[in-house]
Amino acid sequence: MTELIFPDGFLWGTATSAHQVEGGNSNSDWWEWERRPGSPCRDQSGAAIDHYNLYANDIALLADLGFNAYRFSVEWARIEPTEGAFDQAQLDHYVDVVEQCRKRNLVPMVTLYHFSLPVWVAAKGGWLSDETPKLFERYVRTVVEAFGDLVDWYCPINEPGVVSFGGYMGALGFPPGLHGVANWNAASKRLIDAHCRARAAIKAIRPSAKVGLANSMQEWDSNAGGKPIIEYARRQAEDIFLEAAGEDDFIGVQTYSRTRIDLPRPVGWLTRAALAIGPIERAVVETTVKRQTGNDPTFDNRSGIRRTQMGYEYRPEAVAATVRRVAEMLPGKPIVVTEHGVATSDDAERIEFITRGLASLHPLIGQGIPLLGYVHWSAFDNFEWVLGYAMQFGLIGVDRETQERKPRPSASFLGEIARTNRLRAD
Ligand code: BGC
Repeated sequence: MTELIFPDGFLWGTATSAHQVEGGNSNSDWWEWERRPGSPCRDQSGAAIDHYNLYANDIALLADLGFNAYRFSVEWARIEPTEGAFDQAQLDHYVDVVEQCRKRNLVPMVTLYHFSLPVWVAAKGGWLSDETPKLFERYVRTVVEAFGDLVDWYCPINEPGVVSFGGYMGALGFPPGLHGVANWNAASKRLIDAHCRARAAIKAIRPSAKVGLANSMQEWDSNAGGKPIIEYARRQAEDIFLEAAGEDDFIGVQTYSRTRIDLPRPVGWLTRAALAIGPIERAVVETTVKRQTGNDPTFDNRSGIRRTQMGYEYRPEAVAATVRRVAEMLPGKPIVVTEHGVATSDDAERIEFITRGLASLHPLIGQGIPLLGYVHWSAFDNFEWVLGYAMQFGLIGVDRETQERKPRPSASFLGEIARTNRLRAD
């Protein structure tokens, strides 16, 4: 039995996002998206797990379990329900969420946009509109002024690469349901602009705050044939955002799995350029979408692979690969794992996932990579976007009839690691 000891002050947290847990987020594009005819969503978010009302108890529960940080998101659609009209009662609500965290000695880590836009922003074109980054900046300024010195950690935008790929490239079934590389690139550009504007606004109001990109990243793997696609996909989905985050105070790494793409022969750069809207993006889309549904993806048809409820390869160590990659691209930049988790009905698999993930991360600290914290997705079972309530990511299960919280063994397991700042590993 060995003990892996983490640095003093290491952040141990869990994460949620507003639309996935609060319930009643009826002024958002996702709420509409869930209800429109032919919606790809399996469920409607509805009351979710009523975190909007139960947050104080939820935060107390997380603190009692042993955590010292809580990452959650503020909902733009609640704060600015119509253009330019900021709702003071909603700002007060989120100030109280932050205060509850502080009262319970949880460091609040605030995400300012986690996939859901106010309907009026979506109606203007969402992330295809040049106005959206500016509107986002104004909303961010309002929230950060309201929080004042209560918040030290901000992630302006959750997974910009997932937003543009999922909603504008046509993968994942996210709103607004657009397709094509041109839309994908245009949305990514606006999201980068919004991130940079938000960072500047936050730093202007609160210079000591730490602002970081929350980047969705995977471990990528391929045969020789798949390599050019991997490089293209990784650049589009991850690297362009990291390149824009050079001035960030930290990078949030969010990793769930490994993607392998095998192709019979390499697709060369010239061929790819000639097929500007063709097999390359189709490959990227198919890989991701089929991973989501659990079917064998065309380009990831390895059999006998252990998979999660999401259809992802069960690969806890992917998180170390992505942290290493950030350290290579941005040497010396502080890193926080802001999401890592697994959808499973077997909580023992979650305990194994946490153990193996942390065991893979620990040596990186010894190698000098400034890893400051580990935040697990998710605190609770919640609304998993298009896949709805069937996915079980939570350390804590929830009976949605009664809204009773049911901590799983993995919650005490990770809470104990947090409390002691160490992992006992065989
Ligand atoms: C997102 C979460 C999501 C999780 C699990 C991340 O991409 O930030 O909203 O629930 O992955 O799929």
